[in-house]
Amino acid sequence: MERLSVRQARQKEAIGQQAFVQGWIRTRRDSKGGFSFLEVNDGSSFGNLQVIAEAALPNYETEVKHLGAGCSVSIEGEVKASGGKQATEVLASKVTVHGWADPETYPLQKKQHSLEKLREWAHLRPRTNTFGAVTRVRNCVCRSIHNFYQEEGFLYIHSPIITASDCEGAGAMFRVTTLDLEKLPLKDGKVDATQDFFGRPSYLTVSGQLEAEIFACALGKVYTFGPTFRAENSNTSRHLAEFWMVEPEVAFNDLNDNMSLAERFLKRLFRDALSQCDEDMKFFHEHYDKEIISTLEQIVTKEFIRCPYTEAVSILEQCGEKFEYPVSWGIDLQSEHERYLTEKHFKSPVILFDYPRSLKPFYMRVNDDGRTVRAMDVLVPKVGEIIGGSQREERLDVLTQRMAEQHLRAEDYWWYCDLRRYGTVPHAGFGLGLERAVQFITGMQNIRDVIPFPRTPGSADF
Ligand code: 4AD
Ligand code: MG
Repeated sequence: MERLSVRQARQKEAIGQQAFVQGWIRTRRDSKGGFSFLEVNDGSSFGNLQVIAEAALPNYETEVKHLGAGCSVSIEGEVKASGGKQATEVLASKVTVHGWADPETYPLQKKQHSLEKLREWAHLRPRTNTFGAVTRVRNCVCRSIHNFYQEEGFLYIHSPIITASDCEGAGAMFRVTTLDLEKLPLKDGKVDATQDFFGRPSYLTVSGQLEAEIFACALGKVYTFGPTFRAENSNTSRHLAEFWMVEPEVAFNDLNDNMSLAERFLKRLFRDALSQCDEDMKFFHEHYDKEIISTLEQIVTKEFIRCPYTEAVSILEQCGEKFEYPVSWGIDLQSEHERYLTEKHFKSPVILFDYPRSLKPFYMRVNDDGRTVRAMDVLVPKVGEIIGGSQREERLDVLTQRMAEQHLRAEDYWWYCDLRRYGTVPHAGFGLGLERAVQFITGMQNIRDVIPFPRTPGSADF
């Protein structure tokens, strides 16, 4: 007998087949006619498989009538056309129970639990509708990321997790150490890093960009995709201490090429989610954000707006809105400002570019005006920044000057400088936060609900 997933058994094409389906019970309903309806899910689709278990089954009274949410089962039977909402159902010839779930103690009973509560049950929330849908959409986004770059001829590069260099220069890195915190070897009252595993201070990476640049400056078009870490103490609905980032880097691209790549890339992710996760997207539309599907559908057909930082600041200064953080040229735009621009002013995603030089890291290319750099951020409604990137500084003299400005030692980045010393080229890239992308696509409000095991200040249980 062929083993079918719930997804396969729910399709019309399966009608007439003998099926062997395995999963977890969502609900049981007993009918007056002396049989029971079991709703079974195995994670392969949003919709459950309806199973009809008749009283003639040998274990009907002893087992089937005691099944409830969370129990695990194998079902054998024939797939039939269904008269209900779904296309098919299975008439069971055998129901095998693998594991019981005591209804007195099983946390996921019919009652809806808040998303906050579900975070405490990170081991069980994958069994909920919401988290199943999030997981499938997240998987779809990851597949599209690889498909997009592979089809465009990019090479997938694995950048290291442990590094001694600080890409973003924000000083928010996790130290990786083998030193015993209780008895640190001290030298002149300071931690003696030469005694550490790598013989120098090492950290979890904040970005794979610098390594991606090395490969782009040899192989042209590359991308990294992996976990990145930020030790910022930010307790917001958009920040994680551990998140996934995809970072393309392209030799000979300038900022305009970079913006076009980002736009094409995001549209591909949105289009794929709409077409490949339609049941899940309908669920998000119904339960979390009534505008999400129409918003995505519109976005994929329109050009993104491109707006220089300076112009965005004048829009904000003149808009008459009361902001908590006052606006003037040179400020780092806050979430309220980003939201105003995307939700009220442009009503669309917007790419802001040419930011003040003082706000941005050393590696961004300085513009001829000397005050701004070739930076770009892609902002979307509700979530704010989902992409940050730039054209890179390819001129050695300007780069070393920028490093000095930011109190970085050029010796520590000798290899990065070498890329400018030998056959330098204009190049550009960006980073998309995977969780911010999934948050935007699903309409989920909190980033902790779009990653399997969120890492935030004070929370790393399991
Ligand atoms: O703007 P960021 O810091 O840029 C970089 O790291 C560059 N080195 C990328 C590059 O040019 N290759 O981060 C890029 C994106 C942000 O736009 C955001 O989507 C996400 O990463 N991100 C976070 N996501 C969740 N939690 C955090 N704490 C995040 N910090 C950044
Ligand atoms: Mg940024």
